[in-house]
Amino acid sequence: MITLDLNHAFLKEDVKAYQDQVRAIDEALQNGTCKGNDFIGWLNWANNYDKEEFSRIKEVAAKVRENTEVFVVCGIGGSYLGARAAIEMMNGLYGDKKPEIIYMGNTFSSTYISQVMNYIKDKEVTVNVISKSGTTTETALAFRILKQFMEEKYGEDAKNRIIATTDKARGTLKALADKEGYETFVIPDDIGGRFSVITPVGLLPIAVAGIDIDALMKGLHDGMGEYGDADLEKNAAYRYAVARRILQNQGYDVELLVNYEPQMQMVAEWWKQLFGESEGKDGKGILPDSVCFSTDLHSLGQFVQEGKKVLFETNLYVETPMIDLTFPNDEANEDGMNYLAGKSVDWANKMAAKGTLQAHEETGGVPNILLTMPGMTSYDFGNMCMFFFKAIAMTTLMNDSNPFNQPGVEVYKKNMFKLLGKE
Ligand code: PA5
Repeated sequence: MITLDLNHAFLKEDVKAYQDQVRAIDEALQNGTCKGNDFIGWLNWANNYDKEEFSRIKEVAAKVRENTEVFVVCGIGGSYLGARAAIEMMNGLYGDKKPEIIYMGNTFSSTYISQVMNYIKDKEVTVNVISKSGTTTETALAFRILKQFMEEKYGEDAKNRIIATTDKARGTLKALADKEGYETFVIPDDIGGRFSVITPVGLLPIAVAGIDIDALMKGLHDGMGEYGDADLEKNAAYRYAVARRILQNQGYDVELLVNYEPQMQMVAEWWKQLFGESEGKDGKGILPDSVCFSTDLHSLGQFVQEGKKVLFETNLYVETPMIDLTFPNDEANEDGMNYLAGKSVDWANKMAAKGTLQAHEETGGVPNILLTMPGMTSYDFGNMCMFFFKAIAMTTLMNDSNPFNQPGVEVYKKNMFKLLGKE
């Protein structure tokens, strides 16, 4: 369970003053009368998910793990960020689990695409193309290249090494998958892209990466209860949602998600999409940004400490690291580091976090919200999903915006299609 500490947040209003508004919004969310109510399938997904399909995900993942060196996830936005966040958080950045998971379909960069194709050319490959609409251009462009490569490499067998995750009935990708005979998984109609890591969109790549998806769903399920109460005193996700609104009322328009674990950086990217796309509309919203400390204390740390007071920090602490190590002694002590000999490196990381909080809070005058998650397990990931889902739904509805649409992302597409000559 994620715990919340608002004692360093400099809130000028009492969170509990928002109890009535929170209760009314929670009721609308639960009974499906809130804005965007056709996209709230994630709320009860931990109970309602298709159990047969879930078993099939595990079976397919086990088969892929036997015959694949590189698993290519071809998708963009919500169709890849969650899977990547989960896999990096749980396996680490230099983990030794096989197969390797790599990403395509998320860029038009010719250099990136060419380098991926070169990297996979002599390896055993399985492709998972993921697109809810089935028409996203970055993904479709990459998939055509991948499909041709797979057919050249594997001939008839290519169809057994391509898996499509898409709408259950509509769209170009669904039609293509049916025609070619690909294994398919369904993206539910009522769960939007940025909430879809808990569906086959995220679960298949996560299972292929050797991660326990039963534990992930258990964490999600437990989160339904832990962040399910309309009473602010009992719901840390809602208190966080309200604290964000209060801080924006105090003039803070930027939220910096802080972590101290490099393997959490993609979690921050996923969080930025979840928060930015949900809340950034109607001329409102807090700009989500992120840093990894202590690395970025040597870059953006300067701005946080002494720059314009536009931001607050939300620290996502991890209580127990995946691996700890003891700092070694050195008789000669020429580097003067023996004062740390025998100490845990994670302890040093935590002392850095403590010192930073003090510096940013006391000298820098920057509000800090503290979130602590127990570890970086798949249970923790599932639980964290529910925490942030509930928080962003509440905080956006408090702005009277629809948390579940993204009309703004269509504008660039119209211009791009015209320039590309799409009819
Ligand atoms: O949150 C969203 O809906 C978007 O980020 C989509 O996930 C992204 O645009 C990809 O869309 P699709 O899955 O339809 O290819």
